[in-house]
Amino acid sequence: IGKKVISFETIDSTNDYAKQIATNENEGTTIVSEEQTSGRGRLGRHWHSKSHEGIWMSIILKPNIVPYKAPFITLIAGASIAKALNTLGVNTKIKWPNDVIVNGKKICGILTELSAEIERINYVVLGIGINVKTMEFSSEIENIATSLYKEGYNLSRVDVVKAIIKEFETLYFDYIHKNSKLETLKVCRNYSAIIGKKIYILQGEDRELVKCIDINEDGNLIVEKDNGSIKEIVSGEVSIRGE
Ligand code: BTN
Repeated sequence: IGKKVISFETIDSTNDYAKQIATNENEGTTIVSEEQTSGRGRLGRHWHSKSHEGIWMSIILKPNIVPYKAPFITLIAGASIAKALNTLGVNTKIKWPNDVIVNGKKICGILTELSAEIERINYVVLGIGINVKTMEFSSEIENIATSLYKEGYNLSRVDVVKAIIKEFETLYFDYIHKNSKLETLKVCRNYSAIIGKKIYILQGEDRELVKCIDINEDGNLIVEKDNGSIKEIVSGEVSIRGE
């Protein structure tokens, strides 16, 4: 992973570029750009990706697994990023399934995109955005977003990328080659920002207050409803928010 890196000064979106070239690239090719002019977030949102302020990167993956097992790669990415940042001295937590947070605010988002046939994956594009040096966020997101620099961490982007790729390689190959999720689940639980807390599950217009109990063997969230019943939440279907 990351042996071949294609870098840009500016590009529309590293995920879009990765999708264009994915068929002709080997697994692990990584696209980075100083700036994205149309950075994309989940649910069609815009992702602020100004020049030199962050890490905007996409990794092309070609896992030999059935498509329904692909969403777990997002958890692997979140776990790798949290592990890497904690190793670099940043107190980092994971807000299941795919936000990485520092001091309660989001510093990293993950956008996983899949191209698959019925039984096999053509490619996965794993997009990672990390706010590293951003000082100012627009008013809509300033209460929920932050950067490493704003939280008092002055890290080099190259060091952060290297550390993430190292952790990701281990957890990803465990999953792909050994079918092992153990370490990823351990990291997701240890660094969880929400286990034991009350959260809102947001789905369309609906919101439901529940208590978050655990992350199960499949990487799904186990929550307890007000009436005491237990429910399993599948990643990708919901958003969550603290009480
Ligand atoms: C989120 O909504 O939390 C996901 C944000 C993902 C942003 C990254 S930046 C690199 C890659 N290219 C994109 O256009 N988006 C992802």
